[in-house]
Amino acid sequence: MNRFPLRPRRLLDCCISLLSQAWLLLILGCSGSANLPAIGQELTLTPAKPPLSPLATETIHLGDTLSATGGMIVSARPEASKVGAEILEKGGNAVDAAIATGFALAVTFPEAGNIGGGGFMMIAGSGKTPSVCIDYRETAPAAATERMFPLFPDRHTLKMVGVPGTVRGFALAHQRYGKLPWKDLVLPSVKLAEEGFVLGGSLAVTLNTLVENSTEPQFAEFRRVYGKQGGKEEWKATDTIRLPDLAKTLKRIAEQGPDEFYTGKTAELLTTQMQQGEGLITLEDLKNYQAIEREPITGTFREYQILASPPPSSGGMILVEMLNMLETFPQAEHARFDPLTLHRMIEIMRRAYRDRAAYLGDPAFTEIPDKLTTKEYAQQLAATIDPERATSSASIAGDIPLTEKPEPNSTTHFSVIDANGMAVSNTYTLELAYGSRMVVKGAGFLLNNEMGDFNRVPGYTDTRGFIGTPPNLIAPGKRMLSSQNPVIVKKEGKVYLITGSPGGRTIINTVFQVLVNVLEYELSLPQSVALPRIHHGWFPEVVSFEGIYHRDYRDAIEALKQKGHNLSVLPISQGDAHSILVQETTDKQTRYLGVADQRRFTGTAAGVEP
Ligand code: DON
Repeated sequence: MNRFPLRPRRLLDCCISLLSQAWLLLILGCSGSANLPAIGQELTLTPAKPPLSPLATETIHLGDTLSATGGMIVSARPEASKVGAEILEKGGNAVDAAIATGFALAVTFPEAGNIGGGGFMMIAGSGKTPSVCIDYRETAPAAATERMFPLFPDRHTLKMVGVPGTVRGFALAHQRYGKLPWKDLVLPSVKLAEEGFVLGGSLAVTLNTLVENSTEPQFAEFRRVYGKQGGKEEWKATDTIRLPDLAKTLKRIAEQGPDEFYTGKTAELLTTQMQQGEGLITLEDLKNYQAIEREPITGTFREYQILASPPPSSGGMILVEMLNMLETFPQAEHARFDPLTLHRMIEIMRRAYRDRAAYLGDPAFTEIPDKLTTKEYAQQLAATIDPERATSSASIAGDIPLTEKPEPNSTTHFSVIDANGMAVSNTYTLELAYGSRMVVKGAGFLLNNEMGDFNRVPGYTDTRGFIGTPPNLIAPGKRMLSSQNPVIVKKEGKVYLITGSPGGRTIINTVFQVLVNVLEYELSLPQSVALPRIHHGWFPEVVSFEGIYHRDYRDAIEALKQKGHNLSVLPISQGDAHSILVQETTDKQTRYLGVADQRRFTGTAAGVEP
């Protein structure tokens, strides 16, 4: 008997998550032939010339994959990439452009773009530009308690909302590293929300499905704001959606400054909603919220320097731990999709994700061992990998007591670089797609349900992937553990690669594989982003592989099964890793190659030409 049936709302979340993933539809053959690339199959570069999109201009080019010299933004929506490119043209730096792009995604990519959520912004450059990470992860409200949720809580309640960090995070980045006035970075999004934007096919379909299924009272505002005529009609791909309440909120934030969100009318609207339901967030929680400038996690892989997000994200430490393990093998002797390569990567993931469960949480509340990112520790762990056989996950649990499902969710990543080589790698999220699906009444923005990222039931760690270890238990004011992993790679002190991804726990493995493709196998960036990826997260003890049904990988899959790996039959799609590579041409010109991952429909690179 299935003790944990898929409840209708969970099922809906799965559908929404699938709807937003072009990759899966292609694999399943729903929209023409599968376009999974095989190794060695070169992908074509879109020539950097207008007009690739109706939004393109003489100096701003838009496309899936393009090259430019004056700056590059790659994000999940063409409007947002264009807003960022315009800020670069106005003389803004990469941080200005990233903030403007982030606000524009809050309008045009409601699935994950947000002002009601949180995330991590990595900033780095050449020369004097410091390397920092702005941590704007949400926090638990002061009234939160360790046992406030059951194992299967309703993910769409006000209790699930963490104190939002995005506006304070952008404000801190701006105050420390921005150039243009704050207002200039927010106003383009006010315009987008006021005048509207064309939905396009995927957003129209997703909104129609969601609105139709959002009949419970807590979603009334969502229906009103995101439904055509409040849900009475169906959106078409060519329709323009306007978001007047969100426009007003953004205008207040633009004119009165970022504090407005935490102490002004927006804060009042948010807390009124909390009081009317069972929400915990108070005006005091909002006022007390701080973004934090942190040192990134640093590591090396071969001749490259890795800069990645520190705790409360697990992204940086686990990525560096995995790269360190991989470095102990003469990996280049084995082809990228050789069974031994895949086996090693799976075993590396298994070990690193076990450590994620054992040690990681908010550093203000838990001591995190430094050893995790050392080469010596990686050497010890890598030595336990049997080249012939899969290790059992339970056998490496150590002192995590084990009691005997992947998460449908959404985040978004964007990468930015300016003409001076200053780079921003930003990942932010509402947690599930459309977060809690609750819109703040009168303020027009979606609230996150990030509290679900805490370990929900103390001591309950099981083979389905639930974790109940102490470092990430709920406590007032604590930041929940994240997997978000915006990364900047440097080569000889200069920015070389900017990448990151959505995808919940799969994020770290997605970034790991993009890095391995570019840095170890020296594959082109379009290939590195497009090639199918694997995921193993210690538990559940299953390997998912995007290429599971592609004939080119059949032998490798068979060999993995022989070694004892349990291959998932469901082809999950990992995240869209919007990335930028810095290239030096033979005449010593620096060019930026932007690649918008096409796993979801609307990713767009915007290249700026001087
Ligand atoms: O911070 C985290 O790790 C999660 N809340 C991210 C969720 C996510 O990536 C969903 N994306 N598809």
